[in-house]
Amino acid sequence: MAEPQAIYLSDYRPPAYRIDKTELTFDLDPQATRVRARLHVTRHPESKAQAALTLHGHGLTTERIAIDGQALLESEYRIEADQLIIDRVPETFVLETEVIIDPTSNTALEGLYVSGPMFCTQCEPEGFRRITWYPDRPDVMAVFTTTVIGDRQRQPVLLSNGNPIERGELPDGRHFVTWEDPHPKPAYLFALVAGSLECVRDSFTTMSGREVALEIWVEAQNLEKTDWAMASLKRAMTWDEEAYGREYDLDLFMIVAVDDFNMGAMENKGLNIFNSAAVLANPQTTTDATFQRIEGIVAHEYFHNWSGNRVTCRDWFQLALKEGFTVFRDQSFSSSINSAPVKRIEDVALMRTLQFAEDAGPTAHPVRPDHFIEISNFYTLTIYEKGAEIVRMLSHLLGEETFRRGSDLYFERFDGQAVRVEDFVETMAEVSGEDLTQFMRWYAQAGTPQLTARSDYDAEKRRFTLTIAQQTPPTPGQEDKQPLHVPVRMGLMAADGQPVELIINGESHGTDTVLHLREAEQQWVFENVDEGAVPSLLRGFSAPVRLEYPWSRDELSHLMRFDEDGFNRWDATQRLALIAIEEMMAAHQRNELMALDARLIEAFSYLLREPTDDRAVLAEMLRLPSEAWIAEQQRRVDIDAIHGARRAAIEQLADNLFPEFESVYHANQQSEAYAPTPEQMASRSLKNVALSYLVANGEVEALNMARAQYEADDNMTDVRAALTLLAHSDRADLGDPAIRAFGERWAHDSLVMDQWFATQVTRPQADALERVRFLMDHPAFSIKNPNRVRALIGAFTQQNRVNFHRLDGEGYRLLADVVIELNRLNPEIAARMIVPLTRYHRLDEKRQALMRGELERIRAENLSRNVFEVVEKALA
Ligand code: PHE
Ligand code: ZN
Repeated sequence: MAEPQAIYLSDYRPPAYRIDKTELTFDLDPQATRVRARLHVTRHPESKAQAALTLHGHGLTTERIAIDGQALLESEYRIEADQLIIDRVPETFVLETEVIIDPTSNTALEGLYVSGPMFCTQCEPEGFRRITWYPDRPDVMAVFTTTVIGDRQRQPVLLSNGNPIERGELPDGRHFVTWEDPHPKPAYLFALVAGSLECVRDSFTTMSGREVALEIWVEAQNLEKTDWAMASLKRAMTWDEEAYGREYDLDLFMIVAVDDFNMGAMENKGLNIFNSAAVLANPQTTTDATFQRIEGIVAHEYFHNWSGNRVTCRDWFQLALKEGFTVFRDQSFSSSINSAPVKRIEDVALMRTLQFAEDAGPTAHPVRPDHFIEISNFYTLTIYEKGAEIVRMLSHLLGEETFRRGSDLYFERFDGQAVRVEDFVETMAEVSGEDLTQFMRWYAQAGTPQLTARSDYDAEKRRFTLTIAQQTPPTPGQEDKQPLHVPVRMGLMAADGQPVELIINGESHGTDTVLHLREAEQQWVFENVDEGAVPSLLRGFSAPVRLEYPWSRDELSHLMRFDEDGFNRWDATQRLALIAIEEMMAAHQRNELMALDARLIEAFSYLLREPTDDRAVLAEMLRLPSEAWIAEQQRRVDIDAIHGARRAAIEQLADNLFPEFESVYHANQQSEAYAPTPEQMASRSLKNVALSYLVANGEVEALNMARAQYEADDNMTDVRAALTLLAHSDRADLGDPAIRAFGERWAHDSLVMDQWFATQVTRPQADALERVRFLMDHPAFSIKNPNRVRALIGAFTQQNRVNFHRLDGEGYRLLADVVIELNRLNPEIAARMIVPLTRYHRLDEKRQALMRGELERIRAENLSRNVFEVVEKALA
């Protein structure tokens, strides 16, 4: 077999033919669904009269191809490499095709497939070609009419995009519904769902007074888990009207929950399809974190109706155009509802650990890539999260009002079109008058820029000079980098804890300003500054960069206490903890006693005693940096030292501050009934962090508190927190019965069972890997279900670093075995799961060799394009 080839942005050519209208008929059958398509095709005026018509198709059994009612002879078309090429076609014509597809054997979960009692589709990015012959590219937009025919008993519900316009009975117990979507759309937004489903209904009145019917379709047993998604949807619809002036544009909006789904959810026009894990919730089964995640994803998919659907992408290299913007929109929405600083802390933590790691690894790519082998591999943290950071920087550079004028103009100007990143940025440049040429480099350069800052104080002149240098490291295929335009939000905190007025060149900038770093190195002089001022830099994480500044521990403690910016108070705490933990890591490596710096204990003691109005932020400040983030700061990663030192730090904090943690635990008990409100979530978060320290102290008393919380069985947030502490303790007599009871109680609920799997395989004890192997044989586990794979394999390889990186290589072997199996079943999931195996470059030689060995074992297989691309990059 020929090696898969890369596709280049520079090879983009506009389509030769447009499709004005697409008419589809699905005759559903689990093994042999018949799909008839009638495409109304017209040659683009600019293309040559002899231009061939090229359509995509994959795994189709073709029964008929006809033009204007005339069946084509075999000599009149060619099928090669997933393409149907018809050399001679009229200027305007109707192309009819009829194909047979097999939804049951579709384990890739792209195109039309079967999930439990239903048929459903996933077409982004290139799944539509598995349904019918079509120009499966986002710059071909058509109006769709879809007739779905199914069995009256087995598929009472037949859904597709738009509005139902006709329904009726057919012979042999069959029936049909015809749907019409008046908005032209690319094929990747097509959707079909059919099965035995129930729905909850609600409605929303838009800002212009139109009534929209809202429906959430689920399997009957899940009806009691739809309230939260419905409430979130209505909040999102209101927010998009207020924040962006965007109104919904159909009379019906539907959400469907599906158990087998590769990603979180999909924004199909008028018919969003969700992974059940990203939509179903109730207090008994769902944690606070998942409630918030669901709220964000429901909003994200809804927001795509404008940023993605009405204005779509010209080609898949522009993916961040819709994803970066939409993530920025859902982040803004979530922070308008929940604690804004905590939302920022969570998003930044994700950036600084996983996105930075991606940007520094073998699969690093720009936010707008210029080539790829398999586009499904590019639904990454870089496209989504770094893409959102770029839009955030733009909104700050322009200011909220100008940014809004820019987005209004963008939606108006490009409505109904398939456009590029340039169209977005140039619109922003136009409304603001800013020159964004240098800013565009953020889309083109991969790698995380490194900022190195230093300061100098002139006591005589009372001048504080800040120097910042920037440098972006080389990434695969990109050796040399240009300086970026980096907005650095900052302030100075005086020795007495007060903010300093920032005076540059005699001009006052208040106490908080944005420095525009554009050169490789720049300097700013602040006048009239007293001795002892501490700079607070990159407030709110104003740019997606690494920042180094030689803060002393006293300076970090100072920022932790006084910084005006809540985010930077958290960041200062993390940095302070990092210094202490790194010191302990060094002791671990020398086989010496690991003693925790007293200044960190003092800092925590201050945090625990000081009354605060933002308990949600406090809870975040009390969490030590994750192992992943600590690893990100190391030139050479010592897995065991990181784990050992972090663990020892937690234990020593617990030993020194037991009474303080205990009183925080008790002070944050709840008496009202559970509700996923920001206030209650803050209390639970704080209470459960406190409990985790108490348990780390090792006293039986604390474990009994955890057991009592588990047995009180009030809500899943508290139950899961307690269960995790019991299951991760050394006390099998407490952990095992709890795990057993939980597994029996929730055996009927696969989403809770996912939590059960994940809780067990993230234990730090040495038996975790054996548990993974054991649980892979559990009747509730299935390698074909992506949620189960993520809960068991994903949780183990991504969240249990000490055990995944076992020195005997068993963790790597396990992952490689799974990837080899998934490569055949579901290449998209295989390529996601393999990632931890590709991050070997900063590990010790022994582990590097073991990991490369497993990658080579995988390479010897008959690989999908997805896995091939990742393995090649990893071994390059
Ligand atoms: N476009 C979806 C989203 O961001 C993600 C997705 C991509 C889902 C590919 C399925 C397949 O909301
Ligand atoms: Zn999206």
